[in-house]
Amino acid sequence: MAEKVVVKNLYKIFGHSPELAMQMLKRGLSKDEIFQQTGMVVGVKDANFHVNEGEIFVLMGLSGSGKSTLIRLLNRLVDPTHGQILVGGNDVATMGKQALIELRRKDLAMVFQSFALLPHLSVLRNTAFGLEVAGVDRKKREMRAMEVLDQVGLKAFANRMPAELSGGMQQRVGLARALAVDPSLMLMDEAFSALDPLKRTEMQELLLKLQAEQQRTIVFVSHDLDEAFHIGNRIAIMEGGRIVQIGTPDEILRNPSDEYVRAFFKGVDVNKYLVAKDVASSDETLVIQAGADAHADMRAAIARLRETQRMYAFVVGTDGRLQGAVSIDSMYRAMEAQASALSGAFLSHITPVPAATVLRELVGRIVQNPVPLPVVDTDNRYLGAVTQTLLLKKMVEQEESSHE
Ligand SMILES: Nc1ncnc2c1ncn2[C@@H]1O[C@H](COP(=O)(O)OP(=O)(O)O)[C@@H](O)[C@H]1O
Ligand SMILES: [Mg+2]
Repeated sequence: MAEKVVVKNLYKIFGHSPELAMQMLKRGLSKDEIFQQTGMVVGVKDANFHVNEGEIFVLMGLSGSGKSTLIRLLNRLVDPTHGQILVGGNDVATMGKQALIELRRKDLAMVFQSFALLPHLSVLRNTAFGLEVAGVDRKKREMRAMEVLDQVGLKAFANRMPAELSGGMQQRVGLARALAVDPSLMLMDEAFSALDPLKRTEMQELLLKLQAEQQRTIVFVSHDLDEAFHIGNRIAIMEGGRIVQIGTPDEILRNPSDEYVRAFFKGVDVNKYLVAKDVASSDETLVIQAGADAHADMRAAIARLRETQRMYAFVVGTDGRLQGAVSIDSMYRAMEAQASALSGAFLSHITPVPAATVLRELVGRIVQNPVPLPVVDTDNRYLGAVTQTLLLKKMVEQEESSHE
């Protein structure tokens, strides 16, 4: 497999005399000791890794662990103190200014957490912005921008202004803008972290879908274990500026390299931190939009449940609010009873779970009544479903990571 990025012995020290800090590191002083004695911060310490062409490589770690510093070193938004950074065979660490500008314009794109759209430009112009800066003529760049807006499902919004779009849509524009330059390497720093869980999952799915079609090389920063495991082909876990483990999600789950990695699973995933909305998935259970014709709705819903071999579906209004849950049986019964509304088929034993319900409580409910449960926010808007399988998966992850 070809290596798109190769990083060797990479260091970044923030502060007045990086060389002094480097010497202190060589003498074995820790990041904390160096900070206490000099006020300098070891941002990245001896990073070594490669990223294969066409893979999504995730940098995961708690806040302050050095993820942003490391990803910014790759396009030299941060200058390295020491080490080598090869992108497509070229050493970014020693590259001249002009070459660097070229590389950033043509081959590298970055997507940030704050969508960083230009508020006074239309969605189309925002999307085409990178191409505009690179001097591509108007017709050509607008055609390309429409093409990528189509890919992210926003073609119809090309002439809107950013402020007219929801957060999730704005981040789609951010993604489109990055894709527009057709970069061979995409850097995404917590790109989906500002979105609510449902939108976040949607963006993850979109990224995976685009990735299946386009196979770009992507370095993706996330502090979220679920996200990292969902989208990462390989994951590097960072702590205090160091990479403590690199592997596929499976390798890391099966064999966490040290206490920190194990603690990461624990801390992020379970106990008091984990609530219903964290476990809810938008693709486990069928959602049907309530329409005007209840009988047509029911027939269509029955067909789709059969096709997808599912037992239950949730009915959600056009306002996104949950109305109820139905099953194939309940819909047949309702049709036989000549019910004129879909609500005639609603199951009374499936009631929504508030987003903030803690895991322990949720397990209790699912054990008593093993059906998929809809999770809703405080406005009764549908966020996703929790199933027995999903819960079990979470608990097994926790179990495995807490062993030895
Ligand atoms: N420009 C800077 N000057 C000084 N310290 C910085 C700078 N940028 C980051 N740091 C420090 O480097 C460490 C790593 O930060 P960062 O890479 O942003 O972590 P993460 O993205 O994982 O939250 C932190 O201790 C942070 O305070
Ligand atoms: Mg960061």
